[in-house]
Amino acid sequence: MAAYRIIALPGDGTGREVMNEALKVLGVFQENGPIDFEIKVIPCGGQHYLETGEQWPEGSFEICRDESDAILLGAIGWPEARLPNGDVAGGEVILGLRSGLDLYANVRPVKLYKGVNHKVHGVHKEIWDSSLVDLVMVRENTEGLYHSLLRRMAQSAVGKKDEKLVIEKFPGLEGEFRWDPRPISRNGSERIHKFCFELAERRSIKLGVPQSVTCVDKSNVLRGCQLFRSIFREVAESYPGIEAKEAYIDAFTMWLVRDPEDLDVVVLPNMFGDIATDLASVLQGGMGMAASANLGDHHMMFEPVHGSSPKHAGKNRVNPIAMLSSLQLMLENLAIRHNDSVLEEFGNVLQESISQHLSSNGPKTYDIGGQGTTSEVGDAIASRVAHLLTADEKGSQR
Ligand code: IPM
Ligand code: MN
Repeated sequence: MAAYRIIALPGDGTGREVMNEALKVLGVFQENGPIDFEIKVIPCGGQHYLETGEQWPEGSFEICRDESDAILLGAIGWPEARLPNGDVAGGEVILGLRSGLDLYANVRPVKLYKGVNHKVHGVHKEIWDSSLVDLVMVRENTEGLYHSLLRRMAQSAVGKKDEKLVIEKFPGLEGEFRWDPRPISRNGSERIHKFCFELAERRSIKLGVPQSVTCVDKSNVLRGCQLFRSIFREVAESYPGIEAKEAYIDAFTMWLVRDPEDLDVVVLPNMFGDIATDLASVLQGGMGMAASANLGDHHMMFEPVHGSSPKHAGKNRVNPIAMLSSLQLMLENLAIRHNDSVLEEFGNVLQESISQHLSSNGPKTYDIGGQGTTSEVGDAIASRVAHLLTADEKGSQR
């Protein structure tokens, strides 16, 4: 019997609750199919740090690296849980694994299921009636990623010789400041672009519709983004069958909300991807629906895009579907990596169960307009999985 080693990292807050539902559903696959999932649960995160003084037990990184076929993560982050140096407690788990296991592709599907209200186009009337949108956005305009460019421009504007005037006119960083370099490399860009074109090729076949890849960056301003885009163009030449499109991140945010149907695969540098995927989740019904895979050449980790939501923690009310869809991505990607057709079928069964559940009258959580609890939704999807698996079984015996 095939066996897969799964490490479960529940983490903080609601991460623990949605992980319970994922393990419940995985248990149904285990009971009704010919695959053994060897599950090891490791406590971790900010709450664990507050309780024990460590982010996870010593040796956990090595276990994840050397003794897992896939890692499932709930959520990391808890208010006040900070390391003495100010960094987020639990960062060693989520960021340590992303970086330490070289999980270079953070894949975040944005899919609106039938039965789920699109949060932008689906609830206009309520938004208008209650004036929910009433805000002022203020952009700091002198520092951050733009600082060095502004400085270069100032120097060229007043003349390099007059350094004193430059300092007087543009005081820049004399006082206290923090500096976060934002390196973007040829190797890092090349592999993520290749990953995206290959994904677009697979999706074109699977969906029967030609898929494009859109490169999103700020290459009109930033050096790193210029490298990112020029390598995108180089890589695109090797995939003449896939349309290559380009956008600047600022205009992209508008297109994403206005015309999401024009986009297929989208590739973004890390920080822009972090921000734009939270925005994109709104188009699929919110963060309770957004799943992700962190894939490298040798390891993989799956997690919902949402965080630990301290204000909802312990109330059995958050949506477990982002976590269950992450589990679906795990089954799908393990199947590809191990060329395992049973796992592929498991992935399809879970996809179908989630989709059937959402268009049914079954329990839904508050975020998508229902009154159901986390565990009720998990139970409902688990029983659909059991039902589909036994139907499959009967079908294959006939
Ligand atoms: C995410 C999160 C993380 C990130 C945090 C928790 C470090 O926001 O997965 O999007 O910034 O990547
Ligand atoms: Mn994020």
